[in-house]
Amino acid sequence: MFCSKLPSKSLWNICIAIFILALISSFTWAETENGKAVEIAKRGACLGCHAIDKKIVGPSFQSVAEKYKGNPKAAVFLASKVRNGGAGSWGVVPMPANSGMSDSDLVLIISWVLRGAPTP
Ligand code: HEC
Repeated sequence: MFCSKLPSKSLWNICIAIFILALISSFTWAETENGKAVEIAKRGACLGCHAIDKKIVGPSFQSVAEKYKGNPKAAVFLASKVRNGGAGSWGVVPMPANSGMSDSDLVLIISWVLRGAPTP
């Protein structure tokens, strides 16, 4: 690790402390993002048709994550699908358009769904 190249023990300690803080803050960042995503899902009425781990009218968010795992085009495809609505991926029942959602909310919620919709 890069800390081991430092000349003194105290610098080394500081380096380790910064490393640990960065690690913790990246966890809290994810927690905050997950919390925001759940809020958006509630506000956007997504949870009326989707649950995290079971099918309602639409597929569970976990099965969406599973289906698109490793697909680099998924985020763009799903963002436009959620905005414009449509059918065909999971069956013949269409999802209605969600045109009122802001771009930033859309990006956040799609990245959350693709991470398997973890709750904070
Ligand atoms: C009225 C019910 C309904 C609402 C509200 C709804 N969905 Fe859907 N959703 C569906 C259905 C039905 C499908 C399956 C469409 C298909 O088979 O292509 C779906 C599919 C999806 C998919 C997967 C699309 C694909 O092509 O694989 C995602 C992601 C998704 N919805 C996210 C959302 C989000 C985010 C919201 C809230 C902004 C939302 N949905 C609101 C019914 C709904």
